[in-house]
Order: sequence, then C-alpha cells, then structure tokens
Amino acid sequence: MHLSGFLLALLSAASLISAAPVKNRASDIDQELPDGLPYPSPSELALVEQHAHGTLPNTSPPPVVSNKGITNLRLIAFNELFEVAFFNELVTNITENVEGYRFSDPDDKNLVVASLEAILAQEELHAIRANNALSHFHVNPIEPCQYFFPVKDFDSALTLASKFTDVVLGTLQDTIERFALGHDYDLAREIAAIIANKGEQQGWFRMQQGKIPSELPFTTTGDLNFAFTAVQRFVYPGSCPNINEIPLRTFETLEILTSLGPKSQNITFSFQDWTNETSKLWMTYINQQNLPIVEHLDIVSHSGNTIVATALFPYDDHELNGLTISAVTRKEGPFGDANDVAKWTLAGPGLIIIN
Ligand SMILES: *[C@@H]1O[C@H](CO)[C@@H](O)[C@H](O)[C@H]1NC(C)=O
Ligand SMILES: *[C@@H]1O[C@H](CO)[C@@H](O)[C@H](O)[C@H]1NC(C)=O
Ligand SMILES: *[C@@H]1O[C@H](CO)[C@@H](O)[C@H](O)[C@H]1NC(C)=O
Repeated sequence: MHLSGFLLALLSAASLISAAPVKNRASDIDQELPDGLPYPSPSELALVEQHAHGTLPNTSPPPVVSNKGITNLRLIAFNELFEVAFFNELVTNITENVEGYRFSDPDDKNLVVASLEAILAQEELHAIRANNALSHFHVNPIEPCQYFFPVKDFDSALTLASKFTDVVLGTLQDTIERFALGHDYDLAREIAAIIANKGEQQGWFRMQQGKIPSELPFTTTGDLNFAFTAVQRFVYPGSCPNINEIPLRTFETLEILTSLGPKSQNITFSFQDWTNETSKLWMTYINQQNLPIVEHLDIVSHSGNTIVATALFPYDDHELNGLTISAVTRKEGPFGDANDVAKWTLAGPGLIIIN
C-alpha cells in the first residue's frame, strides 16, 4: 500500500487527538498485509494454504443470512485482519533479528518462527473466509486499517497475543449464539472449528509465558461490542476504510492501573466519562461462564472527564482465574450474561488475566 498524502494528513490529524494512543512515526504506518491480503490472487492463496497446513473450506456458505449473522461476519473479518497485521509484524521482527526479538538458541528460534508462520497463515484464512462469506451475501468485505502494537519485545508481544486471543475465544462464543438466534445454523460449525484452532494457539502462547497450557474449564465469554472496542485500541483513528459499516458500539477506554495477582484486592482504574453521572456507576466483572459480578466503585479523582476509581476485585470468592473482562456499568445489575453487561457499559473492556 502506498501512503497517499491524504492518508498522511489523516494520520497526523489523528495524532492530535490526545486521548487516543497514537504514534505517528512513518515506520509504524507503512503497513501492508502479507500475501496480497485482503484480496490474494489464486497463487497467493495457494501459498497461504501451504503455510497454514490446510485449506479454506470448499463448501459454500448458505444462501441467506440474518442481519445478526452479517454483523458477526464483519466483526470476525475486522478482528482477523488485525491479527494478520500483528502476527505478520511479529514474524518479521523475529526473522529480521530486531532488538528484543533475538533468540540465542537457533533451534528455539526455528520452532518459534515455524509456529508463528502457521498461526499467521491460519489467521489469514480466517479473515479471507469471513470476507468471502460477506461477498457471497452481497455485502462489502471489511477493509484493513493501519495498526500499531504497544509491544517492544518477544515477551510483551506474546502477552498481548494471549490477551487478544482470550478476548476472541469469548467473542466467538457470542457469534455462535447470535448465529443461533438468527437461524444461521449453517455458519455455526465453522466458528467452533476456529475456536478450537485459537485454543491451540493460546495453549502455546501460555507455555511461552511459563504457564500451564489450558487456562480454564469453561473459557471466559464475551460480547461482540467488547471485541470491537478492544481491537480499535490498536488502529490509527480514521484509518479503517469501512469500520462505519460495522453496527456495533465503541465504549470509552477503561485502563486497569493495578497489576493484579491471585488474591482479592482493591484495584485502581481510570476511564473517561462525558456524562457526569458518576454517582450511578459500578464495576462489573465477567469471568468464565458465570453470572457477572458487580462491585461498588469509589471515585478517587475526577479531573475534566477523566475519572480514577477503585473497586474490589473479588478473586478469592469466585476463583477469578484466566481472563476477566471488566466494565464500568451504568447499572448495578443483576446482569444475566455478558450481553446484558455490554448493554449497560460506559467504559470497557478492561482486560485482566490471572494465572
Ligand atoms: C516489532 O518491532 C518494532 C520495533 O521494536 C515494535 O515497535 C513493534 O511493536 C513490534 N511489533 C510486534 C508485533 O512485535
Ligand atoms: C478494599 O477497600 C475497602 C474500603 O477501603 C476495605 O474495607 C477493604 O478491606 C479492602 N479490601 C481489600 C481486599 O483490600
Ligand atoms: C463534567 O464535569 C467536568 C468536571 O466537573 C466538567 O469539566 C465537564 O465540562 C462536565 N461535562 C459535561 C458534559 O457536563
């Protein structure tokens, strides 16, 4: 992709929005997805399939789809394109021996590169499949954005990969339920196949961090809107050509400021609130397949629209291992599920992983 003057203007304008986590070094924005994505040629696709150790499904999507189903496919494409950009940059950093990405043992390096190249190609196929399905339903495919990643070495990159993979593992549960609600039963099975693939990836990411591979008996669930917001933290504002075609909500940013361990503790976090309804806010946690947990939120400081607050993270009472999605909600609950939490969310998701 050639950076047009227009794009450069857009990006430098974006960098003026101080609330957004934006860098504007040219090296960060000169991005191109690998293998001709999002629209690979037949020969490029054949190469991706070789690297992925497998093929795109050769079955057609069903003739019709619900509106909910279209939103699912758009969100999946939006997320997978981001993952492709991430893993492509990670493989490049390692193969080019960028500082922070060097391995002393060549065998280690070979295995890591082989693993990541397969993951990259597998993510490429997920993205292509979702966009092909959109085209099949006569809907615009989702175009890639320009991305940046707040990591600077192999360990921080893998920690981030673990985090967004956990979010996606929960989000894909939500897509299956939404397909079911929209009677798109022909699309549900493939999502289950993708969840399994990402679960395998996650086991390996976890091992690289010295953790046991399997995180939870029932992985933490999610909501499409949380994933939509989370991915946007890695895109340059204004760089996504058709993000406006994805009818999902973007919440205010929630930043967890405490580094957490496996114990109950009060945590500090910050978020934006443009409504000034702070007396009516709560901290809500989603973990595993359990009912969301709601805690009182105490405001520590309020300057402009930025609020710093504390709330209890009740690890001991609920065995809050693995991913916890936290959200500042406008309602005390009780919440029936993650979708219910998303409906009442002001800021989130704050992502916490314990063990
Ligand atoms: C690749 O390395 C550059 C330079 O250190 C860094 O800015 C970028 O975030 C890294 N990307 C990934 C995905 O590790
Ligand atoms: C959290 O803060 C509250 C209020 O200050 C305090 O009563 C409670 O003991 C604290 N809980 C923990 C686990 O530190
Ligand atoms: C909210 O309150 C802050 C601090 O008191 C103030 O600066 C801001 O203008 C208020 N915003 C709205 C939308 O009322």
